[in-house]
Amino acid sequence: MGSSVEQNILVTGGAGFIGTHTVVQLLKEGFKVSIIDNLDNSVIEAVDRVRELVGPDLSKKLEFTQGDLRNKGDIEKLFSKQRFDAVIHFAGLKAVGESVGNPRRYFDNNLVGTINLYETMAKHNCKMMVFSSSATVYGQPEKIPCMEDFELKAMNPYGRTKLFLEEIARDIQAAEPEWRIVLLRYFNPVGAHESGRIGEDPKGIPNNLMPYIQQVAVGRLPELNVYGHDYPTEDGSAVRDYIHVMDLADGHIAALRSCLDDPKIGCTAYNLGTGRGTSVLEMVAAFEKASGKKIPIKLCPRRSGDATAVYASTEKAEKELGWKAKYGVEEMCRDQWNWANNNPWGYQKKP
Ligand code: NAD
Ligand code: WQD
Repeated sequence: MGSSVEQNILVTGGAGFIGTHTVVQLLKEGFKVSIIDNLDNSVIEAVDRVRELVGPDLSKKLEFTQGDLRNKGDIEKLFSKQRFDAVIHFAGLKAVGESVGNPRRYFDNNLVGTINLYETMAKHNCKMMVFSSSATVYGQPEKIPCMEDFELKAMNPYGRTKLFLEEIARDIQAAEPEWRIVLLRYFNPVGAHESGRIGEDPKGIPNNLMPYIQQVAVGRLPELNVYGHDYPTEDGSAVRDYIHVMDLADGHIAALRSCLDDPKIGCTAYNLGTGRGTSVLEMVAAFEKASGKKIPIKLCPRRSGDATAVYASTEKAEKELGWKAKYGVEEMCRDQWNWANNNPWGYQKKP
């Protein structure tokens, strides 16, 4: 394993949910970190809490710039000031429903932003990237567990941005073999840092299951709509592979090290999941147990576009990155509840 001392990493979208948790781990592992984020879906308080969590010494190794990847000038300013060894690229919009109503916003933000980033990286001869892809690229898989060599499909404009960006990465690396690009396909990231100081804080009504359950538990929402109770699964609700965000953060460190150390990595995709499927109703029960709160539910029709059951094959990441998820659903719910209970209104004060 190569020494990571003073290696300088640019983290785009580092003020967001997965970004903040990954930045904490990067700093603890001895990397210098520079975040660029336009704060479109995050707040500066989250970065302040990252500083608080790592303490004053490691905090000195963290820089934050408010900037937008759609403006090449914002990225250029950073690269002209310092050398980056690699980029972890989280920045992007991620709401599936919003992408259906406003695809141009998604193509502009996710595609143009990423192309600007590649251009600036190439200009400054920084050619290593760890990219946030998603299990969404498997569409509605015909078989489970999902293997990295499955056929890829997109079900909506958001998914299409991830699929296109994977293809763009493969094309760039094929044309210029010195690039090293790791595509990380996250399954369903949940949970929070064990301190309860950072966590997911969606704006508006949450789209995803766990933030919704969390807001029911703290009394911000009256009940959970369970979308689908007639799926061919054990309890009739849909099955997903939930993964603790701290496991995900460690998966990024493993991927980054592979990128930095392995000249032959090329452009390679890895699933980051636990390999275990959990149903919506099982997740509700696990959260009730962890929080001691009753989560009222309403059984509703299926949500359009949802798959019955999706979970990852984790063999490739285990074998090639030496990474495996440590936490189960119990720890995910425990830490998500700790975050919710300490911050019922997220990073904001009660409105
Ligand atoms: P997030 O919204 O919390 O974080 C993304 C961050 O990127 C935000 O802080 C946002 O302000 C910033 N950003 C967006 N567009 C930007 C731009 N043009 N310039 C600069 N900053 C910009 O989301 P997250 O859950 O942390 O997700 C991170 C990445 O992982 C995203 O690319 C997302 O698509 C992907 N992903 C997320 C999930 C999930 O369920 N959370 C699953 C699979 C993949
Ligand atoms: C999980 C299950 C819902 C909310 C999404 C994106 C995917 C990736 C991860 C970014 C489903 C059910 C949900 C609710 C419910 N993101 N549910 N009531 O759909 O697996 O994946 O996030 O890349 O691209 O599509 O996650 O958390 O929305 O839903 O019953 O209020 O919970 O129907 O079965 P999903 P989710």
